[in-house]
Amino acid sequence: MKKFPMLLDCDTGVDDAVAILLTKYLNTLELVAVTSVAGNVEVDKTTLNSLRVLEIAGMEHIPVYPGAAKPLMCEPITAHHVHGENGLGDLDLPLPRRQPEKTPAWDAIYKYAKKYKGELVVIAIGPLTNLALAIAKYKELPGLLRRIVIMGGAAVGGNATPSAEFNIYADPEAADMVLTCGAPVYLCGLDVTMPAYLTAEELDELAALGTKQAVFARDVMQGILKVYRGFKLPGVCFHDPVTVLYADDDSYFQTDHVGIRVETKGRLTRGKTVTDLYSDKQMEHNAYIVTKVDRETFKKRVFEILANYGA
Ligand code: BDR
Ligand code: CA
Repeated sequence: MKKFPMLLDCDTGVDDAVAILLTKYLNTLELVAVTSVAGNVEVDKTTLNSLRVLEIAGMEHIPVYPGAAKPLMCEPITAHHVHGENGLGDLDLPLPRRQPEKTPAWDAIYKYAKKYKGELVVIAIGPLTNLALAIAKYKELPGLLRRIVIMGGAAVGGNATPSAEFNIYADPEAADMVLTCGAPVYLCGLDVTMPAYLTAEELDELAALGTKQAVFARDVMQGILKVYRGFKLPGVCFHDPVTVLYADDDSYFQTDHVGIRVETKGRLTRGKTVTDLYSDKQMEHNAYIVTKVDRETFKKRVFEILANYGA
């Protein structure tokens, strides 16, 4: 089967790390580049972490382009309390053997979009600053992309605040630019990423597959079990990995074509992805929102891919 080229834009923390591991054995997408952005931790650390995880995946041929150190207009926020000081759950990992590229992320996104002429899929699993900067600088960029798949937002609820999800809350102005850029935009928000969890027992079953990558996935994710337990959730959410799996194969998800804009001003609602599912004041249907996932199939795919490393 033909595979479409894919660029992964990430703020490599613990679940971004697992998302990177999953890219190696997808059915319809081929990873060609990684760009990094500030988010879970500072951009120098997310860049370093992307290089580290690509090394663990045996994908040292994939270039890593460093991106924005801060959001477009607001003060940066981080999530060290979830992802640890180093962004990878404070696991003791060696420095990567490679250096990042010199080209900044936003120029790299445009370079790959031009190279693949309409075929490039961009998967963004961190704040959307890099993509917004690329869209602002290169007006033809949206027309050159096959689609943009985002881990971010929610039709209902939030995790950074009661109304906003972390990736959108970290740079709401950038997120609204991306959602209205004209390219086909797909949002995997908390509605679908919260049900995509693994319990503590399932994380151990994953590690029991025995591949270095499956053990790493368990080790890097299990530090956040206590965070989720604090919210009375049954396990750790695979926000970013499920987004990559959705982009690869949407057959076990539900997707709706809707209107989505980002609230950039509200005192209590800044960063909310205002989603028009069925209102009287219909917004223009500018994007797609993913609302349901079959958890068993999601889990099967995570296990299949991480087992495949040993094949
Ligand atoms: C998102 O925020 C980050 O902390 C995770 O890596 C994920 O991309 C979930 O809200
Ligand atoms: Ca992320």
